[in-house]
Amino acid sequence: MAVKDLREWITRLDKEGELRRVAAEVDWNGEIGAITRKVYSKGGPALLFENIKGYRDTVSTKLFTGGVATKDRIAMMLDMPRQTKHRDLVEMVRQRAKKPLEPVMVKTGPVKENIRKGKDIDLFQFPVPHWHYLDGGRYINTFCGIVTKDPETGTRNIGLYRGVVLSKNEIGVLLVPGQGWGIHFLKWQQLGKPMPVAISYGWDETLVFCASTPFPRDADEYGIAGALRQQPVELVKCETVDLEVPATSEIVVEGTISTDPKDYKMEGPFGEYTGYYGEAAKRPVINVSCITHRDAPIFRGTLEGMDHSNPNEDSSILVISLSAIAKNILESQGVPGILEVSAVPITIVRIKKMFRGHAKQVAAALWGSSAAQYLFKFVIVVEEDTDIWNRRAVEAALSYRVNAAEDDIVIFPGSFGAVLDPSTRAEDRDELRFGTGKWSRILIDATRNWNYTKNPQWGGDIYPPRSTTLSPEEEALVARRWKEYGID
Ligand SMILES: Cc1cc2nc3c(=O)[nH]c(=O)nc-3n(C[C@H](O)[C@H](O)[C@H](O)COP(=O)(O)O)c2cc1C
Repeated sequence: MAVKDLREWITRLDKEGELRRVAAEVDWNGEIGAITRKVYSKGGPALLFENIKGYRDTVSTKLFTGGVATKDRIAMMLDMPRQTKHRDLVEMVRQRAKKPLEPVMVKTGPVKENIRKGKDIDLFQFPVPHWHYLDGGRYINTFCGIVTKDPETGTRNIGLYRGVVLSKNEIGVLLVPGQGWGIHFLKWQQLGKPMPVAISYGWDETLVFCASTPFPRDADEYGIAGALRQQPVELVKCETVDLEVPATSEIVVEGTISTDPKDYKMEGPFGEYTGYYGEAAKRPVINVSCITHRDAPIFRGTLEGMDHSNPNEDSSILVISLSAIAKNILESQGVPGILEVSAVPITIVRIKKMFRGHAKQVAAALWGSSAAQYLFKFVIVVEEDTDIWNRRAVEAALSYRVNAAEDDIVIFPGSFGAVLDPSTRAEDRDELRFGTGKWSRILIDATRNWNYTKNPQWGGDIYPPRSTTLSPEEEALVARRWKEYGID
């Protein structure tokens, strides 16, 4: 059963032993980020900070994080058994996302319990952490759904894009023109008007799961969130902008972004998903026109940045959501023989090879999609006998099925790509100048090479059989006599 709001989700996590309430006083300045990093690295519980320094008598006194920081909790979000495997969650997301459930409008909801405008607007009333020690401020937009509309078509987009508190009523943002809201922004700019925006913090986690996933540009993330939770999203109208937000959100911030570059302000640095800091620059600003919130609202945030050996909340989400997206792209492009995809941070595609150049068709389809803005820098294609969720199996395919001198490695230079990847020169990552970053993409074709001569010694196959596989006779013999051996 879908939860109706963040509070019900917290209760469910608590019952299942997946939540810790932190009653000790903690500092929003560094300490919350440091605790969260330690907990994420261990695959630990979700955290509800209930006693935050300087936040005893404020509008919001509590911060929740890590709700979907593990595969098991993502399975719970989807109402699946906790032990469900990654590959089954990917398939579940893929299938549900294909059948969006229309959101429904309701007159009002708990998020309208308090409506703050004018002098009552104060973003510092929310316990926003200073997450990483070199961050350029307190990042309020780390786990939220940011709603905008295309001024020509009225198409809605919900994305997750970082934002820092600049003053009581200003949020500086990283706005990449190639992203969903960036495309809207360019259109508002052409009209010479500011772009309306609404931000929902603290609702069913499916919303941020969808907001952080590059679904096709015309898809409504509310519809997909409804499909994932198997219950339509109930929406209310905003107070000061023509946008809609979930009625049981904890907090909603409404405002506009000036499209005039002279209004841009310094934003950054910020500890990014890459595990490195992203640079500071002059960027667009959300001018807050209204804040609505529930009584005693719980603020929701997350600590970005993949630890290089351990998962965090966004990497746990993205390994499932982006793998689903990647397989859908290949399917919609009509690429045959696609068995499975694991997309983050390296994209590995398992195929039933059907023709020479099959792997190149896979890479071309992924590289041509709008989702490639942040994805598919490295694509590895393997055959059906390689388990893509097993690092050793993938390394074996790379070691013994790839020959760089035989066209198995393809470089696609000068492509668009992520603006936050520090392996690209900083001057090539100026999103406001170029609209995107600059990537040279790589395909490693780790499938058997059909140019090689078929070998009569191996029954006419190109490759020798695998010596690690038992013959059917051996398999049957050992299975039949296993108990007799007395080994276990
Ligand atoms: C925690 C988190 C923070 C993110 N911050 C940004 C950001 O600041 N700017 C950005 O362009 N994308 C950011 N992303 C990635 C976008 O959310 C992602 O590309 C998503 O597909 C955007 O929605 P869209 O495809 O509708 O533009 C972030 C993702 C996560 C998980």
